[in-house]
Amino acid sequence: MAGEESRFIREAFESNYIAPLGPQVDAFEREFIKKSGIRHALAVVSGTAAIHLALRNLEIGLGDEVFTSTLTFIGSVTPIIFQGGTPVFIDSDPTSWNMDPDLLSEELEACRRRGRLPKAVVPTDLYGQCADLERILKVCQPFGIPVVVDAAEALGAKYQRNNRNQKNRSVDSGLGTGEDEYSWVHAGVGAKAAVFSFNGNKIITTSGGGMLASDDEAFIEQARFLSQQARDPAPHYEHSQIGYNYRMSNIVAAIGLGQLQVLDVNGKAIGNHSWQFKRDPLGSKNNFISPQDKPVAGRAKRAQSRRHPTYAGGSGLAPVDHSGSFFRPRQAL
Ligand SMILES: Cc1ncc(COP(=O)(O)O)c(C=O)c1O
Repeated sequence: MAGEESRFIREAFESNYIAPLGPQVDAFEREFIKKSGIRHALAVVSGTAAIHLALRNLEIGLGDEVFTSTLTFIGSVTPIIFQGGTPVFIDSDPTSWNMDPDLLSEELEACRRRGRLPKAVVPTDLYGQCADLERILKVCQPFGIPVVVDAAEALGAKYQRNNRNQKNRSVDSGLGTGEDEYSWVHAGVGAKAAVFSFNGNKIITTSGGGMLASDDEAFIEQARFLSQQARDPAPHYEHSQIGYNYRMSNIVAAIGLGQLQVLDVNGKAIGNHSWQFKRDPLGSKNNFISPQDKPVAGRAKRAQSRRHPTYAGGSGLAPVDHSGSFFRPRQAL
């Protein structure tokens, strides 16, 4: 803990909002929006719940395919199954360890030929390393497929994207205003929605919790409705849809408010640790392909290109064969 959390918790007690709503929840969402640059946010009980709400909003239903990352945590996959969908795994780019945009593109083309596209793509920003979101969005856009970024581990991480490709340049939209070709934007910016986790092992923690963020206000408001038991606007209890009890508690949000104050400090500390951790576990640098040269902007920097020069140039790092069974295994879990 950073120090200010107990003050925010005390304020929550004093306001008597000991409930899954209240001023600390509202303030946590507002502060989160400022930090992330994503316009709207909904605080919920977990990152898994946030992904579930996003997929429910996208009307993922029985038998629908959702593309997701091979290298991820189960919490980004189970919500697909909650909805009756089928997860389809797209293998990783050796540079970022995240979803490979080239394999995604190949597979979407194959789906088009088969006449059956996935209903959504859920790439993970693993260990705080952003996926190449700009390319993933570009690949999905002609197919009209929404992208929900599982940025559960990537709060505070940034990726670089090309300003020339952006229509709406403003500080508010996180795109930067300058004439520079590239600018750094927060993990998840530009996607249909992004999901963050505040579990105990994350960059900041609320003991448990999550955030669903999107530039689409209606998307967040629909998720808010579903997260509060989908209660219809009537004086009595009336429910015409199935909802969930997913809202974050005011006490938990108070912890989050204190933690957001040290996001940058935590991000840098964990970034350094993460780098060490990734290089050494097999006892040899050459056995482990690191997703980043050195930690930048918290735990992450953008995957620089499709193929990292050290990888392409044969530095002794093991090449990854995408032709085998790791590519898009189709069996459901
Ligand atoms: C990549 C990833 N996705 C999803 C989740 C699920 O988040 P939560 O534990 O808050 O449900 C986590 C973390 O636990 C995660 O690391």
